[in-house]
Amino acid sequence: MEKSGYKIGSGYDVHKLVPGIKLIIGGVNMDFHLGLEGHSDADVLVHAVCDAILGAAGLGDIGDHFPDTDPEYKGISSMILLEKCGRLLEKKGCHIANMDCIVFAQVPKISPHKRQMEENIARALNMDSTLVNVKATTTEKLGFIGKEQGIAAQCTLLVKVVPKKI
Ligand code: CDP
Ligand code: ZN
Repeated sequence: MEKSGYKIGSGYDVHKLVPGIKLIIGGVNMDFHLGLEGHSDADVLVHAVCDAILGAAGLGDIGDHFPDTDPEYKGISSMILLEKCGRLLEKKGCHIANMDCIVFAQVPKISPHKRQMEENIARALNMDSTLVNVKATTTEKLGFIGKEQGIAAQCTLLVKVVPKKI
């Protein structure tokens, strides 16, 4: 049984930008000429959130739970993976106190969609969207992000452990 208290989790993910696929970030279908390549829908932000949740729960990482070799997860919406991670956390008697995320992208502009991303993530996790914060930054045209070859995302979250009384 978990002791009551707090646990921290962090997640980081990168996907490659390629032509011919949809760009989905934080569950938002972005209007852009490139998309992120991956086994699932490659929602880089949601993957970072999943990893932060699994980290806080002490349950490894997204690849342990949803291997990219498993045909079940081919093309799957990452929101479904996020819901599953939320349920795993709940089973541990934990709930998310708050989360703070960063999308590292030179393009496209994330800010018009940040609120929707926060709402999508919050809905999948049955939490209030005021507890989810999404930020964005370019890398000033430096490196693979700055050269528009890929997009990265990071999530830090705090989890409150509330052991169930028997
Ligand atoms: O150094 P700083 O992060 O302030 O500058 P920046 O990377 O140029 O980002 C400026 C603003 O643009 C930030 O407030 C971000 O929210 C926003 N941004 C965005 O909407 N979409 C991106 N892909 C990158 C940045
Ligand atoms: Zn990913």
